[in-house]
Amino acid sequence: MTQETTTVIRQDATNQRKVFIKTYGCQMNVYDSERMGEALAADGYQPTEVIEDADLILLNTCHIREKAAEKVYSALGRYRDLKTARAKEGRETLIGVAGCVAQAEGEEILRRAPDVSVVIGPQTYHRLPEALRRAKTGERVVDTEYAVEDKFDYLPKKERGVRPKNVSAFLTVQEGCDKFCTFCVVPYTRGAEISRSRKQIVDEAKRLAENGVREITLLGQNVNAWHGEGPDGAEWGLGELLFDLARVDGIDRLRYTTSHPRDMDERLMAAHRELPELMPYLHLPVQAGSDRILKAMNRRHTAAEYLALIERIRAARPDIAMSGDFIVGFPGETEEDFQATLDLVEQVRYAQAFSFKYSPRPGTPGAELGDQVPEAEKADRLQRLQALLSRHQLEFAQSRIGMEMDILLEKPGRNPGQLVGRSPWLQSVVIDAGDAVVGDMVRVRITDASANSLAAVRLD
Ligand code: SAH
Ligand code: SF4
Ligand code: F3S
Repeated sequence: MTQETTTVIRQDATNQRKVFIKTYGCQMNVYDSERMGEALAADGYQPTEVIEDADLILLNTCHIREKAAEKVYSALGRYRDLKTARAKEGRETLIGVAGCVAQAEGEEILRRAPDVSVVIGPQTYHRLPEALRRAKTGERVVDTEYAVEDKFDYLPKKERGVRPKNVSAFLTVQEGCDKFCTFCVVPYTRGAEISRSRKQIVDEAKRLAENGVREITLLGQNVNAWHGEGPDGAEWGLGELLFDLARVDGIDRLRYTTSHPRDMDERLMAAHRELPELMPYLHLPVQAGSDRILKAMNRRHTAAEYLALIERIRAARPDIAMSGDFIVGFPGETEEDFQATLDLVEQVRYAQAFSFKYSPRPGTPGAELGDQVPEAEKADRLQRLQALLSRHQLEFAQSRIGMEMDILLEKPGRNPGQLVGRSPWLQSVVIDAGDAVVGDMVRVRITDASANSLAAVRLD
């Protein structure tokens, strides 16, 4: 889930100012970085991957665990010398912090990092060009107020999807969260749950398709809580939205992430049952297998309810692969509670999973609880859990050997003549491409599997 990526939106090279954007955290940040890059491009900033060339360094940050937040400050420390070196050559460097650390810490960032001149929250990044203009005059700007206007109405639209050979794209449909799990900062950094309108989403999907995108992943911190108004005025949920998007010309594959078990409704099940465009892969985090811990986390379901839900999902779409997130060492978690997590994992057999040591976050109820689990215990549990999850992931990958499937080619492989595509189950598949090019959907047979990638031969 957490990754570091450099967002690049190519533009014609002219004598423009340059921006280097570094992205931490979840896919929603990746999406936001692309939107910020477009807003900056419209304002005369050209993207660069060479940080030394950047007139603006923008960090799009994550606050989910302590490590994620600390990474930002250590990066800011490293930029200090760079800024000084450029200043010696008479070149100014602006440093901006966006995203969830910006939202959570605001002014505090200016105190801890004297080189930062702009701090901008996830809800206000459409105002970034304005904030930069103010920063240019020497002002230090913090803009983390929740905006009354809808940022999506203020972001450039026509650039959407202009990246060459971008066959798979993210599309944010829902933001924020009202669930308040006791370990989690998201309700505080991203604010209350809001859904973008159906029209805005469908229009964006069409623009993406016109630019060659064939696969769209709908994003939201709670994506299956999306709701909106259908063309007939009726209340729609994510299920109806998926049926609608499947009709967009050129869109062959749909995915969505991240879902909450409490929001898997009948129409969403129907979408999995009836829509060939909806890929048979579902990220449905459970966090823990013990009812006592689930309750303390405020997840508002039991382990048995979660397992029953998965049974229903598998009845609707028998070939579906499950993915999940886990936290070990939540306050009060005993060895017996942890065993319940291992038992649940044994029953579900996830194709893919992300697992973390509990990290107490300032301002969340979990951080206030007594009975914090010692670090060594957390590390031990994480290792045991990950060993089991890795075994299942490998077994799932190996179960694909001999299967025939369509893969969507996304990028060049390591060796000449190779291309890498995606299986319906989100695995990387390496093939000798022959005459196929990025953007093609090709039929293959899987010949080999490791935990993280598959090898295949073309059939068509
Ligand atoms: N909305 C998603 C989760 C978003 S955060 C959901 O409800 O499942 C992504 C993952 O980070 C979570 O699923 C959780 O496993 C992990 N996470 C969140 N807060 C954490 C914390 N304080 N310590 C450790 N892991 C955490
Ligand atoms: Fe965080 Fe829970 Fe909301 Fe997910 S559902 S974003 S874990 S509060
Ligand atoms: Fe991190 Fe914010 Fe996403 S805290 S996980 S970047 S919503």
